Amino acid sequence: MKTQVGIVGAGPAGLVLAHLLERAGIESIVLETQPRQYIEGRVRAGVLEQGTVDLLNELALGERMMRQGLMHYGIELRFKGRGHRIDFKQLTGGKGVMIYAQHEVIKDLVAARVAAGGQICFEAREVGLHEIDSENPVIRFTQNGAAMELQCDFIAGCDGFHGVCRDSIPSGVLKTYDREYPFGWLGILAEAPPASDELIYANHERGFALLSMRSPKISRLYLQCRPDEDLDEWPDDRIWEELHLRLATRDGFALTRGRVLQKGVTGMRSFVVEPMQFGSLFLAGDSAHIVPPTGAKGLNLAVADVRVLALGLEEFYRTGKRELLQRYSEICLRRVWKIQRFSWWMTSLLHKFGSDSEFDRRRQLAELDYVTSSLAASTTLAENYVGLPFELGQEPE
Ligand code: FAD
Ligand code: DHB
Repeated sequence: MKTQVGIVGAGPAGLVLAHLLERAGIESIVLETQPRQYIEGRVRAGVLEQGTVDLLNELALGERMMRQGLMHYGIELRFKGRGHRIDFKQLTGGKGVMIYAQHEVIKDLVAARVAAGGQICFEAREVGLHEIDSENPVIRFTQNGAAMELQCDFIAGCDGFHGVCRDSIPSGVLKTYDREYPFGWLGILAEAPPASDELIYANHERGFALLSMRSPKISRLYLQCRPDEDLDEWPDDRIWEELHLRLATRDGFALTRGRVLQKGVTGMRSFVVEPMQFGSLFLAGDSAHIVPPTGAKGLNLAVADVRVLALGLEEFYRTGKRELLQRYSEICLRRVWKIQRFSWWMTSLLHKFGSDSEFDRRRQLAELDYVTSSLAASTTLAENYVGLPFELGQEPE
């Protein structure tokens, strides 16, 4: 097999890239290790930045999202039993976020790709990258037991945190920046009408809680827990009781309960590799960086990376120049570090750290008070949450 761009991984990064390249008249083939049903059912993120929403619409991929997604123009920060609204519309000049599940985005992207005759090879196993320091890289893999080879001009490593692309780069090239947090999130999906019209991020002495949703009938809720929390110790009643305690208000907030449809624990870390490219290989999305989920940024950052990559590849195939491609990593990393900063800040603002002293607790509450009472501070939160502008930065001198 032969193509212009070999894309490893059919997550948000890989699939959005395939569509951007198609629009630019560039061929690609996507290799995905999992079956189609698996990636279309995997419960993950749910918040799309305004820029991600606009891009999906520009690519004519947003029709179902616009019908079924929920546009939100604010969130609530809840602490000391009181709610404080951050008004995105007012603070950002009319921007908001779309609540629409990641696996629904994946379904839309896969369906449109298949309908356009694009190739996605599901269940590609034993994927290996070869000759990535040359202009003719090769991806070898097996499918249904048969050995396959894909020759291409470039490889996009969109295979997530546990993929193979990052590790294909020779040792000594990448520098890693890493931070693990002493907690995780226990998340549930429940057949219960959301108890609030907007997302609630709650700082509580027992730990963080988040009320989110997927539709007017389905709630998505999260609780701060131990990173290695055993789900067997969390029967549904205990989860509801803990959510009730952490989301409680002085005026008797009532959480709607319902059948728990799905349950899982996610660890939390911040992780970046620099650079995000080597030879003909370009890393994008979680393969290059991970953020803790408190700022709802992982998916959106993956999409921002491939927008830069698609522009670089477009320039190359149109003019033969590699200027943007050579700056790929530098351009992406400016955004990556700003998103790392915001995700770390939201995480430290809202969670209980095991080592908290009374001083740290008072400081955290003062910060919440400041963020919810200062126009400057709430604008900072709002403009980051709805998404910073997409920028290519300055041309080098
Ligand atoms: P992925 O979505 O991970 O896609 C990578 C794809 O590559 C996968 O389909 C994988 O099967 C495939 N793959 C892996 N290895 C290979 C290989 N060797 N060959 C071929 N294919 C391969 N973000 C938020 O903003 N909010 C959240 O609440 C949130 N919750 C999350 C919960 C979980 C359990 C996880 C894992 C992530 C969560 N995230 C969340 C992060 C967000 O989902 C990711 O940032 C986003 O999926 C990144 O997209 P991606 O395309 O880079 O990688
Ligand atoms: C959701 C996930 C997040 O990480 C977040 O910050 C807000 C909402 C969600 O899954 O709905």
